[in-house]
Order: sequence, then C-alpha cells, then structure tokens
Amino acid sequence: MESPNVSSHASLRGNAQTLFERIENFLDASFGGADNPLRHLGALGLYFLWILVATGLYLYTVLDTSIEGVYSSIGWLSQEQWYLGGILRSLHRYASDAFVLVMMLHLLREWAFGRYYGFRLYSWVTGVPLIWFAYISGIGGYWIVWDRLAQFSAIATTELLDWLPIFSSPAVRNFLAPDSISDRFFTVVIFIHIAMPLMLILGLWAHVNRISRVDYLPSRRVMLATLASFLVLALIKPALSDAPANLALAPAEIRLDWFILFIHPLTNITSPAAVWAFVFGTTILLFALPFLPHPKAQPIAVVDAANCNGCSRCHADCPYEAVTMAIHPHKPGHKIAVVDPDLCASCGICAGSCPSSTPFRSQQRLVTGIDMPQQPVDVMRQQLEAQLAKLGGTTKLVVFGCDKGADVRGLAATDTAAISLICTGMLPPSFIEYALRSGVDGIVVTGCREGGCDFRLGMAWTQERLAHQREPHLRGLVPQDRLRVVHASRSEGEKLAAAVKEFKARLATQLVASNRPPAYSRRKIHHG
Ligand code: HEM
Ligand code: SF4
Ligand code: SF4
Repeated sequence: MESPNVSSHASLRGNAQTLFERIENFLDASFGGADNPLRHLGALGLYFLWILVATGLYLYTVLDTSIEGVYSSIGWLSQEQWYLGGILRSLHRYASDAFVLVMMLHLLREWAFGRYYGFRLYSWVTGVPLIWFAYISGIGGYWIVWDRLAQFSAIATTELLDWLPIFSSPAVRNFLAPDSISDRFFTVVIFIHIAMPLMLILGLWAHVNRISRVDYLPSRRVMLATLASFLVLALIKPALSDAPANLALAPAEIRLDWFILFIHPLTNITSPAAVWAFVFGTTILLFALPFLPHPKAQPIAVVDAANCNGCSRCHADCPYEAVTMAIHPHKPGHKIAVVDPDLCASCGICAGSCPSSTPFRSQQRLVTGIDMPQQPVDVMRQQLEAQLAKLGGTTKLVVFGCDKGADVRGLAATDTAAISLICTGMLPPSFIEYALRSGVDGIVVTGCREGGCDFRLGMAWTQERLAHQREPHLRGLVPQDRLRVVHASRSEGEKLAAAVKEFKARLATQLVASNRPPAYSRRKIHHG
C-alpha cells in the first residue's frame, strides 16, 4: 500500500502540474507553443547564460582587481561609460536574476510533470549541482563591486560559513577590521565568480548529454523580447553601486537583490542552523527524489533482427540517444538498431519511424523492425481494424492521439474510431493512408503543443512526417484536406472535442457539396 507521504507528494505534484498546465495554456493563447517561455525554460536558461558570459567578459576587461581600484572601476562603467559599460553591467545583473528565476521554474516544472526518475534520473541528478554553482557565482558577483551591499553580503555569508565546523578560527573576523581585506581577497572572489560559470557550463554539457536535438535556444522572438526588456530595465533602472564598503561602519539600510541574495534576510528571520538545514535538506531531498517510489517503468523498445534493414531512422528520431547502430548479425554489410535499456524512455517514437511498421504488409502478424511490447504495431493495426469494422454513419473519422495529451478515448462514437498511442510520434503515417483506404472520410491526429511533448520530439516528428519533410512521410497522394492536426494538452479535452466536431461538420459539407465518394475508395486490404 502507498504510504501517506508518497500519496501526499503525488497529490502536491499533481496540483502543481495542473497549475503549470493552466498557466501554459493561458500563455499559449497569447504566444503560441513555440514562443511560450514556460515551455522552453531550459533553453531560456542557456540563452541567459550566454548573455551573462558575453557581458561578463566585457566587465572583466575594465575591472581593476586591487582593493583601491575595484569599486571605482565598476562605478566608472555606470557613470562615465553608461551608454556601453553601464548598459552591459545592467544586462549582466538582469540576466543573472532571470537566469536563477528560469532555473528554479525549470526545476519546479520538471518535478511537477514527474520528470525526475527512470530514464530522466541522469538529467535530474546532474541538474542539482547547477543550482549551487549558480548561487555561489551570483552571490560572489555582488562582492566584486565592494560596496555596502557587498560588505553586508560578505559578512552575512561568512557568519553563515562560520556556523559550519569547517574553519579553525571564525572567518568573519576578516571583515571586522578595516585593513583586513587585501587585493588577494578580490582575486579569490573573481576566481570563484568565473570558475563557477565554467563549472556550470561543464555541468550543463553533462546535463543534456543524453538528450538528442537539445532545445539550445528559445525562439528568435523570445530572445529578442527578453533582451529588449533587459535593455529597457537597464535604461530606466540601471544597475548601480551602493556607497563604497567601509569596514569601520556597520552596513545600514541595504537594497537587496531578492533573486540571488534572499539567503541573507532568511538568515535574519531564522538562524544559520535553520538556513543550513534548508540548504542541505533541499539538496539531499532533490538528490533523493528519483529514488522514492514511483510508477513502474514501462517495457523498452525491442528490435527484431529479421525486420530491421539498418536504415537508421530510429537512431535519427530517438529523443534520448537510446538507439545505436551495430553490425547486423545475420545480414552481411547491413546494420542493425540496438537499444540501450538505460536510456530508453519507452516512448515508441522509433516504432513510428521504422519503414517496416506499415499496416499494408500482408503478414498475419505484423512484426516490425523496432517495437513496443506494451502496444506493438500489430496491436495498433488490430485496434484500428476492430474499430473500423464497427464504424457507421455518413462521415467516418479516426482520431489518433496520445496517452499523455488530451484523452481521445472518450471521442469514440458510432462514426468515430479513437486510438490512443504511447506518444503521437509512434504513429507511422502509413496508418493514416490505411484508414482512409478502408473507407474512412477523415483523420484527426492530436498531440501536445510545441514544447509540451512529454517525450520532447514526438509531435515535432509527426508533423514533419505528415508534411513530407521527414521519413517515413505520408505519401503525397493522400489528400491533405482529409487530415487535421490538433494540438491539445492533457487538460484540453474540450478543445479537442470541439475541433473534431468542427472537422467532421466541414468534411460532411465538403462531401455533400462535391457529391463525390471519399477520395480513397474502399479497397480490399488485409484483415489479419
Ligand atoms: C542551470 C540551469 C539549467 C539549465 C540552463 C538547464 C537546461 C536544460 C535544457 C536545455 C534541457 C533540455 C530541454 C530539451 O531539449 O527538451 C534540460 C533538460 C532537463 N533538465 Fe535542466 N537545466 C538547468 C537546471 C536544471 C535543474 C536544476 C534541474 C533539476 C534538478 C533540471 C532538470 C532537467 C531534466 C529532468 C531535464 C530532462 C527533461 C526531459 O527529459 O524531458 N535542470 N535542461
Ligand atoms: S522507445 Fe523512445 S527512447 Fe526508446 S529507443 Fe524508441 S525512440 Fe528511443
Ligand atoms: S527504423 Fe526499423 S529498419 Fe530502420 S534501423 Fe530502426 S529498426 Fe531497423
């Protein structure tokens, strides 16, 4: 039986997922899936990181790392060279705030959608240290300015560190005497501020290492819009230094950056012990999360040597780099697909890409090159044929959908067949032609919006296959007006139902107006 902790975690996660979906659907209405920032948080984070690196390189060129020069060299940027250095400084600051914000949202979203265990364990576990790198670099960045805020943050951080039993004498003493800060201090701070982003970049390389066709950058419109907002902020509220640090005075009122320096007020209202419990507790919890009980793993893709011709399409389409090509054991000069069980997401996209997955084959039992044991292509054909045999009415439809998107099963009716797949990317386009040739009037293919596919690329590949841009593509002679693609996420069942109804009505009018039989007249096909 599930423990109460496990079930309350599941319901908290479920609520968070519903909240994300609602906000995403709302933003989709204004921006569309491709430009919806919530659907591309990882890519946005990478983009902000490049802004940070580019602006940081310029700031570094003017930085004087001596104790006398550090404050004035940064101040010079904002006062004398406000039109370039000042703007770049502000961009650096706003991009760092935006970076930590999208990083935390990305983490929350991956958790809310349950993307932290199984084949995603690697991406999750490599993501956790990135949070440390980002915050250490961010806090250190404020110290470089060496103003009152830097002094406050340095003292507050060392007080926190002093609480840990790692230093023999309290490090905070270094900040209590006016002559205790040396040039070496700034060299160390700058080293940390630069080393951490390098670790971050290295960590990010590992983070996306097992993913193919990574979403490296958001759409051009999103990049321009976010850059423009940073520029506007830089002009109306430029990043400026506080008064210079003065160790003879205790820092008075300070303007905090709540995105990066929130840890200091948190220490003030709680205690160093509570803050460390929060920091280490959260880190341990994040690392432990993938190992808590979660739904059983689904069977992985299985290759059938006799039906694999080594075309590599499954290798090209797999979103998780799980398919490699090896020497075929029985066909000299040919290759064979090999699935890595640790990487396979059980998405079925490879089955949709295999040329052997065509229902037109006359085998009694359809065996394809790469298949999913939980929903083999042969079963898909059986499901389709069973439903086709029962279809009646004047305008017959088949709806192919996805277990992760809007539920299609409820759409099944006398004149509508509905088949749900593991992922829409599992649908070989030949199934569409097969259904139309069996006397169906129209086909609806539905799946998640751009950036919303649970298996990253399922819907993207489906659309390219249907648009003749990707193999295996829908044959050119299949009439496109008999096909409707509907993007509908898990919570958009009503939207899907309305689109299906509208398509059915349009097809009915079209058929009556042209007084013609379906473009594809009924043809004898195999019924296995
Ligand atoms: C430092 C900031 C981070 C950046 C820039 C970043 C970036 C990315 C990118 C670009 C992807 C690939 C998205 C795609 O192409 O579909 C990704 C995937 C992922 N990230 Fe992050 N990430 C960051 C931090 C984190 C953190 C802190 C976590 C959680 C601990 C995390 C968890 C994941 C997971 C689980 C995936 C895999 C998603 C999937 O397989 O569908 N990331 N990240
Ligand atoms: S089921 Fe998905 S993850 Fe596994 S090999 Fe096929 S395409 Fe790759
Ligand atoms: S797509 Fe099918 S035929 Fe091509 S390599 Fe993969 S399993 Fe073999």
